[in-house]
Amino acid sequence: MEYVVETRDLTRVFGKFTAVDKLNIKIKPGEIYGFLGPNGAGKSTVIRMLCGILEPSSGSASILGYDLLREAEKIKTRIGYMSQKFSLYDDLTVMENLNFYAGIYRILREERQARIQEMLAMAGLHCREKELVANLSGGWKQRLALGCAIIARPSIVFLDEPTSGVSPTSRRMFFNIIQELANQGTTVMVTTHFMDEAERCHKIAFISAGKLMAVDTPGYLKRNTLQGLLVELAIPQAMERIDALENLSYVKDCSIHGSLIHVLLADEKYLGDLHDFSGAEPRPIVPSLDDVFIALTKRQRAGEGNA
Ligand SMILES: Nc1ncnc2c1ncn2[C@@H]1O[C@H](COP(=O)(O)OP(=O)(O)OP(=O)(O)O)[C@@H](O)[C@H]1O
Ligand SMILES: [Mg+2]
Repeated sequence: MEYVVETRDLTRVFGKFTAVDKLNIKIKPGEIYGFLGPNGAGKSTVIRMLCGILEPSSGSASILGYDLLREAEKIKTRIGYMSQKFSLYDDLTVMENLNFYAGIYRILREERQARIQEMLAMAGLHCREKELVANLSGGWKQRLALGCAIIARPSIVFLDEPTSGVSPTSRRMFFNIIQELANQGTTVMVTTHFMDEAERCHKIAFISAGKLMAVDTPGYLKRNTLQGLLVELAIPQAMERIDALENLSYVKDCSIHGSLIHVLLADEKYLGDLHDFSGAEPRPIVPSLDDVFIALTKRQRAGEGNA
């Protein structure tokens, strides 16, 4: 199978509102596929459709070679899914939750204990089997939720913002697990708002207002998305001066990053003009994924959805 996920003009409307607009994506086996976009972009809606939970309004998709419209039931039992509000039972212990999901996924009785032990090891939850989920901190809960989602060893797992609301250490640990899974051949589609996590994906798809704006490796997107020269300016009262900067004919874009302003110049020949105008030395920089994210969001607002 060349692609584990392939969508063709996948679309979802809610009433008159188009949440996902003719989405075409392809995911290869073993890929960590990051799904990025502002709030309300349609990420969860796409994932819910790919998991067979939400019906597409039009278009089609195949998951693991199964047709999403005709074989949704088959898909559901062969994938792992961790929803944005993932569903653990707070009043059950760690072990009881894993047992519950082992049952849901119909894992054979004789295999259950081994599989549960495997998930406990993966999540670093050994010694906590008897703890109530309610007493676990966010990071532990998230790893347990992942364990529940992949207890049946699916070849693809969909993770919808698995790391929101946990500490940076827990987030890193969680992503280490994701990388380990991918190394073993599991395909991972993951949504995130964290750029450090996006950096660790093999591919990133960026959507805004339901439209695919860009898809490529993090490196490629950083090198090729912004058209012009990105510079960093250290000027006092950045907030107050950003409008004036944005109004300059040779400035394509401005954004505030802490105490610095990132300015996208139409061309490097304007470095001197910007220096004269701002009174500060513009320093050319390599765009970060944050810069890419900002540029793509603005591009969508300006009505240039494509890709
Ligand atoms: N069941 C529904 N009925 C009506 N509108 C919906 C429904 N589900 C989602 N939407 C709308 O579709 C749009 C996309 O929502 P979605 O949850 O997919 O965004 P998202 O990219 O996951 O955002 P976030 O980053 O906040 O999780 C939003 O405007 C949302 O309000
Ligand atoms: Mg969402």
